[in-house]
Amino acid sequence: MSSFFHPKKTAALLLGVSAFAVTAWASEPTVVPEQPPFPAQGKITYVPRDSIEEFKALPDYHEPDWVTEKFVKTGKLPPVGERLPKEPLVFKTGNMPDGIGVYGDTMRHVVGGRPEGWNYSAGQTQGWGGIDIALSECLTRTAPLFQVEAKDVEPLPNLAKSWDWSEDGHKLTMHLIEGAKWSDGVPFSSEDVMFYWNDNVLDPNVTPLNGATPETFGEGTTLKAIDANTVEWTFKEAFPRQYLYSMAYGTFCPGPAHILKTKHPKYATGFTYDQYKNGFPPQYLNIPVMGAWVPVAYRPDDIIVLRRNPYYWKVDEAGNQLPYLNEVHYKLSTWADRDVQAIAGSGDFSNLEQPENFVESLKRAASDSAPARLAFGARLTGYNLRMNLSANGWGEPDQRGQAVRELNRNEDFRKAVTMALDRKKIGESLVKGPFTAIYPGGLSSGTSFYDRQSTVYYPFDLEGAKALLEKVGLKDTDGNGFVNFPAGTAGGQDVQIVLLTNGDYGTDRNLAEGVIGQMEQLGLKVTLNSLDGTKKDSAHYAGQFDWTIRRNDPDLTSVVQNTTQLAPTGPRTSWHHRAGKDGTVDLLPYEKELVGIVSKFIATNDNGERSELMKQYQKIATENVDTVGLTEYPGALIVNKRFSNIPVGAPIFMFNWAEDTIIRERVFVAANKQGDYELFPQQLPGKPGDKGPMN
Ligand code: GLA
Repeated sequence: MSSFFHPKKTAALLLGVSAFAVTAWASEPTVVPEQPPFPAQGKITYVPRDSIEEFKALPDYHEPDWVTEKFVKTGKLPPVGERLPKEPLVFKTGNMPDGIGVYGDTMRHVVGGRPEGWNYSAGQTQGWGGIDIALSECLTRTAPLFQVEAKDVEPLPNLAKSWDWSEDGHKLTMHLIEGAKWSDGVPFSSEDVMFYWNDNVLDPNVTPLNGATPETFGEGTTLKAIDANTVEWTFKEAFPRQYLYSMAYGTFCPGPAHILKTKHPKYATGFTYDQYKNGFPPQYLNIPVMGAWVPVAYRPDDIIVLRRNPYYWKVDEAGNQLPYLNEVHYKLSTWADRDVQAIAGSGDFSNLEQPENFVESLKRAASDSAPARLAFGARLTGYNLRMNLSANGWGEPDQRGQAVRELNRNEDFRKAVTMALDRKKIGESLVKGPFTAIYPGGLSSGTSFYDRQSTVYYPFDLEGAKALLEKVGLKDTDGNGFVNFPAGTAGGQDVQIVLLTNGDYGTDRNLAEGVIGQMEQLGLKVTLNSLDGTKKDSAHYAGQFDWTIRRNDPDLTSVVQNTTQLAPTGPRTSWHHRAGKDGTVDLLPYEKELVGIVSKFIATNDNGERSELMKQYQKIATENVDTVGLTEYPGALIVNKRFSNIPVGAPIFMFNWAEDTIIRERVFVAANKQGDYELFPQQLPGKPGDKGPMN
C-alpha cells in the first residue's frame, strides 16, 4: 500500500500556494491524492443532442388495445389522436437502446421516503425515489444529457418545445407545447406556467419542492405570458443560457393551476397558506399531472400505485402513445430495502448508493441467474459536512448556536476540522475496496469541470488541527477532554456542536458517527440531531443547524445544473449560507469571490472561460474549506433484466437521478418477459379526487 501524499514535497510543487497562510504548526495543504482507479464503469456512447427527440405530427397514433376498447369506444375518452398535442414529443428510434417497444407490465419501485401530499409547487415531498420526477414535467429536461458530448450540451426541450433569444440576449421567448393536456383532459397552457411562477416561486409564503426561488433564475429576472402557448423571460444578463438548466427538474415543473388555485389564498377566499400546502394529501387520488403516470391508489406505509396517463403527450416514431409501461409501483419501505429487493427481484430498480450494501449486492448480481443487472458509473456520489456560515440570524440560533456560527466563520477553525478528519478511515468504515476516495470538498471528481490540480487538500493531521484550535482560542479549560469557549463567550462552556443528519440512510448515520468520533479526538463535542428525511429537510431550509451532513446535489456533480447553489448567489441559494432576518447574506470575503466566479460562469457561454472559472472556484472553495468533504464513491444502477431501453452507462446521479436519466416513459418489457404485476389491469386514472382508478 503506497502512501497517498507527501505533503511537504508536493505542496509547493503542485499548486501556486505561495499565497497560503501556512502556519508553522499546521500541515501544508497539498493537491488531493489521486483516486484509486475504478474500472467497472459501463461505457457511454456519446450522441449528438438532436438525436434524442423532436416535436412533430405523425400520420397516425396508437394506444394499448384495451384503452380503445374499454374507454374510447364507450365514449369515456376521446380518440388518442384528439388527446395528443398538435405536435407531440417524439423519441427517435435511433437513440432507443432496444428500439420501439410494446405495451404492458409494471415498474416496481421501493422507496424510503413517505408522501406528504401532491402539492409539489408548495414544497410537499411525494416520498422521493423518482415519484415526483415521474409526475412532474418541466420546461426543459437535462437528465438524458449524460450521453451528449460536452461541447453539445444544452438542456433538451420538454414542455417548452423551442425557444428564441432576442438579439441583445436579454429576452428569451419560449414556445410551449401546443394542445397538450393534463391527465384529466384539461388543456395545459401558459396559465399553468404563470401560476407556478407568480403564486409559488415569487410568493414569499410558498417554497416549491427543491427550493426554487426567484434568484434561481437570476436576480431581477421576470416572466410574462404572451399568449396561451408563449411565455417571455427577461434577464439582466445577456444570453444567460445557464438558466435553461434551472427550467429543468426540479425547479421549473409547473403543477395543475386549475386544481391548485382552488386552495391558493390568492384565488380561494378563506384559505390559508398552510391549507394550500396541505390541501392535496396522499389520500387525494388522481391528481392531474403532465407526467406519464397518475397516482390512483395509496396505502400508508405500504404502496402508492400509478396508472398510465391517457393524455400523455409523448410518442415513439411509430406513433405509439407513451408510456409503454401501464403501471408503476412505489412500495413504501426503506432505502436499504430498495437495494435488497432490486437484487432479489421483488423490486425492479435501485440506485445502489449506500456503500454498506455494495459487496453483498455485487456478489449476488454476479450470478447468471441474478434477476437484475448492476452497472457502476463514475464517482459522482459525495458527501459534505456543511457548516452554517450565517452570523446574522438564519435559523435564529441561541447564544451557544451563535457562538458556533462565529467559529464556523473562522478559517482556522474550518481548517482544524478538515485536518482532523481521517478520510481514508471514514471511507473504509463504509466499505473496503477501491470504491471510496479522499474527497476534500468542492466539485465532485466525476464532473467534466473537475481539475485535480486546483483541488486543495489539507491532509489528516490531528496535532496540527489541535494547534489550530488553540490558535482560534479554544482550550480545554475544565480538563474534560473537550475544548471550551473563551471565558467571555457562551459562558465559557464546552464548545458543543449539533450535527443535523438524515436518519433515513445508513450511510448518513455512519458518516455522522465517524465525524463525531473523530471530532472527539480533536476535542470538539459534537452531538447528533438525526431526523427523518422530511423533517431534516425542513430543519435545513429553516437554517436550524450548526453543522449538517448532506449528500451532494447536481451543482457539485454537474456544475451546469443548479449552478446558483454553488455559492450564496442569492438570499436562498446556498445550502449552508442563507439570508438572515434582514434578507441579506453576510458573505465572507472568499464567498464574495465565489459569488463573482459563479456569476461570471452563468454570464458566459465560452467553454474555455467556463472551465477556467471552475478551476478558480475549486481552488478558492477547497482552500477556504467552504465545505468539508467526507467521501466520494461511484454508485451502481440496478434494474431488473426484463426491462429494455435502459441506456448503457447511465449514471445514478449527474444532472438528475437515474429515474429520469433512463427516460422511463420509453422503457418497456418485451412481450415474452412480461410479469403479472399490474394491480389495476385495464384501468385508467379517474377524475381528480376520485377514490381510485376508472374502470
Ligand atoms: C432519493 C434516493 C435517490 C433517488 C432520489 C430521487 O434521494 O436516495 O437514490 O432515488 O430519491 O429523487
